Parts: sequence; C-alpha cells; structure tokens
Amino acid sequence: MNINDNSGITNYVAKADRYEQMKYRRCGKSGLLLPMISLGLWHNFGHTDDFNNGRQLLRTAFDFGITHFDLANNYGPPYGAAEDNFGRIFQKDFVPYRDELIISTKAGWDMWPGPYGNYGSRKYLIASLDQSLKRMGLDYVDIFYHHRPDPETPLEETMGALHHIVQQGKALYVGISQYNAEDTARAQEILQDLGTPLLIHQPRYNMFDRWVENGLLDVLRQKGVGAIAFSPLEQGILTNKYLKGLPEDSRAVKDARYLNADHITPEVLDKVAKLNAIASSREQSLAQMALAWVLRDETITTVLVGVSKKQQLLDNIEALKNTKFSSDELKQIGQILG
Ligand SMILES: NC(=O)c1ccc[n+]([C@@H]2O[C@H](COP(=O)([O-])OP(=O)(O)OC[C@H]3O[C@@H](n4cnc5c(N)ncnc54)[C@H](OP(=O)(O)O)[C@@H]3O)[C@@H](O)[C@H]2O)c1
Repeated sequence: MNINDNSGITNYVAKADRYEQMKYRRCGKSGLLLPMISLGLWHNFGHTDDFNNGRQLLRTAFDFGITHFDLANNYGPPYGAAEDNFGRIFQKDFVPYRDELIISTKAGWDMWPGPYGNYGSRKYLIASLDQSLKRMGLDYVDIFYHHRPDPETPLEETMGALHHIVQQGKALYVGISQYNAEDTARAQEILQDLGTPLLIHQPRYNMFDRWVENGLLDVLRQKGVGAIAFSPLEQGILTNKYLKGLPEDSRAVKDARYLNADHITPEVLDKVAKLNAIASSREQSLAQMALAWVLRDETITTVLVGVSKKQQLLDNIEALKNTKFSSDELKQIGQILG
C-alpha cells in the first residue's frame, strides 16, 4: 500500500520481486553473500544534495536486490551528513527491512579536530563508530572498516580496536580499505589470531587503476578475504557522459572536490571512445562494460558504484546480464589501457 507521508514522496513498500534479478557472490570464505552491485553514499547524500533524490536512489537500489549500502563517517558534505541523511531515510523507509540490509561505515580520515579524530587509534575508531551509529539511528553496522592505513599506529592496535568493536556487537564484520598487499596480509593474520576474521577489503579498482592486480588480489584469494571495488567507473569517466563535453549536471562540473575538468584530458577521452566502441559491440553501455570488467575476476565480490540519478543505477544493474569477456575482447581492452 502506498500512503502519502506529506514529504512529496509516498510511503515505501519494497518490490515483492526484488531478489529475482540481482546476483550475489560470497564474500571471500565467509558466510556472507553480497549483491554483485552495491551502492555507495560518498556523493549525492550530503546536506547540499536533494534529499528526495537520495531517498529515491536507495529505494530503487533495494527494489532491485541491492542489499548493500556503503557509508563513512566523513561522507557529506559536511562530514557526517550522508550518515545523517541515510539515518532519516532508514527511519522512514527501511526499518522493516533492517535484516535484509548490509550497512557499512568507516573511520580513518580526518573527522574532528585534535589528535583523536583521524587515522587508526583505538580511541578514534571506537568513538567514531559510536558517533556514526547515533547519526544513522542504528544499534549496529554490518561492516565497519578502517578507512585507510595509518603509518604510525601499530597495526595490532587498529586491528585490536576492530576486534573489540565486533565483540561489543557494534559491528558484525570488519574490513579494511586502501591497504597494500603486505599490510593486508598482516592485518588478516592479526585479526585471525584475535578470533575475528577479516571479511573484506575495499580497494579502488577500475580499468584505469589496476594496482590491485600487482599482489593484493593474490593475498585476498589466498586468505579467503572478499573485495569490494570502489570507484569502478573512475567517478564517471568510464561512461560515455564526457565524450561530448562536460555536462552541467555531472560530478566534474557540479562538485569538483575530487574530480574536475583537468582529469578529463584528450588522452583519457581517446581511450574512453575506444572502450565505448568495444562496449557497443558487446551491446552494453560503457558503464556496464566497465563494471563487468571489474567483476570478471571472482575475487571481486561486488562493485561499489555511486549514482546521481535513478536511471544510472538501472543502467548499471543491467551490467550483470553480460559479465563474460572473450579472450579477444580482453586483449583489445588491454591494448587500449596500455
Ligand atoms: N574506501 C574509500 O576510500 C572510498 C573512496 C571513494 C569511494 N568509496 C566508495 O565507493 C563508492 C563509489 O565511488 P564513486 O562514486 O567514485 O563510484 P563510480 O561508480 O566510479 O562513480 C560514480 C559516478 O559515476 C557516474 N555514473 C554512475 N553510473 C553511471 C551511468 N550508468 N552512466 C553515466 N554515469 C554514471 C555518476 O556521475 P555524475 O555524478 O556525474 O552523474 C556517479 O556519481 C562511494 O560512494 C563510496 O561508498 C570508497
């Protein structure tokens, strides 16, 4: 039943067939299945963004079986805003579906002033997760991440804090992000000794950024750790949207904090145009091919996309209709990427 709740958007009842189209992969050697496409709230959920658009994106995602929403303490702007807005949407729409959702958050980047609001101390991680839970109105998150390596805090302390958080019941699983292969192996061993498995690693991985292929994926495979690839579309560059200039409503124009016109050079666009031609021959959009390409290796559990529009999400979900590549296609793509 749809009832108007005076917010200009009707009350939410999830689609009954929401699990029919999405595919799920096991996260490493854990018991947890994740949707092959997950939704990130880094952009489009701040206080400067349209709240109802964000609400529509989360509803659409869940209606198509995207059970995993990824946040961090500092997503906004301002910091904390994405968790705040997610919490409001959660209360309005998702309370009945809590047990069908995998909600993650993170701490590791600068969050509040002074020596305790950054990096990887036990003090920071535990306080930050408590703040995140309050903002989102949750009792626990499903996955809590250390967001980036800390060159100074002993890894034992950071991993000990993650273990403690699981023991407290404030997170069901833990993960790390942006760690190199060597530190990932050590983190996994420390956590294993403590009795808390390392569930997942969140690295940046896309056609233009293949660093994980030099060791990290091997470690994850050997250790049975899952992987969620962030920015699989290189923040939108690996779509056809910039081929004819800079659209006014694109991230590179609207929000130049992390992506701007300087990143979209003629060399980049030349590669994008060539990749776009291969995608067409596969009867896919470039976005779909870029996601399928990241998912071609089953070590990658899921791709973590951001979207500003519902239609982008629907386009991305269709990627799962064709995730196989012929050796010829892989060779051609490899030649373009160089
Ligand atoms: N662990 C970390 O350190 C870290 C760092 C960064 C991100 N993340 C996570 O990864 C998530 C995704 O990152 P991201 O937003 O950079 O991912 P992305 O999927 O590479 O880029 C998202 C952008 O691509 C465009 N887009 C998406 N689908 C499209 C389609 N089908 N057609 C055309 N354009 C499309 C949209 O741009 P427009 O806005 O231009 O429409 C969208 O905002 C974040 O939300 C966050 O959860 C984690």
